[in-house]
Amino acid sequence: MNWWENEFLKAKNNRLLLENQSAETIARKYGTPLYVYSRKQVLRNLASLKEAFSSAPTGLEVRIAYALKANPHKAILKTLLKKGCWIDAVSPAEVETALKAGFPENRIMFTGTSISLKDFERILKHPEVTINIDAYEQIELLAEARRKMRRKKPVRVSVRWNPGLGRGFCSKTVTAGERSSDGTPIKFGVEEARVIEAFKKLKQLGFEAVGLHQHLGSGWTEEDFPVAIKAVDRMIKKARELKKAGFNLEFLDFGGGFGPKYRAEQRLFPLAEYAAYILDKVESSKLDLKAITVEPGKYLVANAGVLLMKVEYVKKSYRNLFACVNAGTYNTVPRPVIYEEAYHEIVNASCVNGQQKEKITVAGHLCETGDVFGVERLMPIPKRGHIMAVLMAGAYCHSMASNFNFRLIPKEILL
Ligand SMILES: Cc1ncc(COP(=O)(O)O)c(C=O)c1O
Repeated sequence: MNWWENEFLKAKNNRLLLENQSAETIARKYGTPLYVYSRKQVLRNLASLKEAFSSAPTGLEVRIAYALKANPHKAILKTLLKKGCWIDAVSPAEVETALKAGFPENRIMFTGTSISLKDFERILKHPEVTINIDAYEQIELLAEARRKMRRKKPVRVSVRWNPGLGRGFCSKTVTAGERSSDGTPIKFGVEEARVIEAFKKLKQLGFEAVGLHQHLGSGWTEEDFPVAIKAVDRMIKKARELKKAGFNLEFLDFGGGFGPKYRAEQRLFPLAEYAAYILDKVESSKLDLKAITVEPGKYLVANAGVLLMKVEYVKKSYRNLFACVNAGTYNTVPRPVIYEEAYHEIVNASCVNGQQKEKITVAGHLCETGDVFGVERLMPIPKRGHIMAVLMAGAYCHSMASNFNFRLIPKEILL
């Protein structure tokens, strides 16, 4: 069995099946390039996340706020809506997208960075959306927007703090701490020393301060566990300080970040242990919270999507062998172009386990040397017309794609 096989992706008779349907047949029917998503896989991922938190005591709600930026496909949103999920939105348009999909305002949290007065005015049109403040300096801005909008009712606000440590699979996805691993100053959150001051200011201006939020980064693996739990400890400590200062919170939001399996050798983040740790700490803290929140993106959708593309021809140049495909990375699976460390497995759906293997560079149709889906991957030699599948294309692929070279962003279908 190949390491990537699961209930969604199977190899049978040397061909790739997607939820038991032939990838080649789907590609012929709908054309390529094409994103194919599996509703069932999204549901399986959600079920395993819920399972991890299933020992939550009665009276403590566990909110799963889907990070919509990962994949805002309407059918995926509706699927998660029906299962009681919340939405983590990071722009006014994301809030509006969630509302259009049917999410009630009171199940949406908006977390924005470098926010304008207009952005806040747009959000305040939806009175029950929770607004997660990312900077002390946003508080006055929000108050100004509230005045302009003549909003009388209380506005639900939480504070994103920066607990002083962060983790991500690469420097660009570390979102807490003073600086990222490459030295970039981290722009997110309210620094530790100003959190209580921020809550006081919110109270003074008549906001309803209901929660504390942190998000350490994205793409955690097993080795990120010690930092993740240290950050849980810091969050609990800060919430207790807030309680002492008179702020009884409704919820703590621990953010997202847990990575699904992108590589054969990747050791998975121990989600069940992490969940148990959070639940234990919350219970023993006597904080009397109503809810805790997690904000998964990748975990719910990454492995529920593939990109199908066709091999136009196989090219030899010097000693290099290229499978030249009818898709461009920037327009379809841009993660490896944006993040040097990102990796997507590529499977020849027309010849999954062929014996005659070579080092193949899977090259896209853009005018850019870096436009390669995979470099010198050992795989069965492809032929013209073969269908290639790029795995883990359910998260941060369509939503990050561009029209570079005036190539179109492919269609999406949901099985
Ligand atoms: C505030 C916030 N929450 C949640 C997420 C989801 O992260 P992931 O997809 O790694 O779970 C992100 C992603 O960047 C984020 O910025």
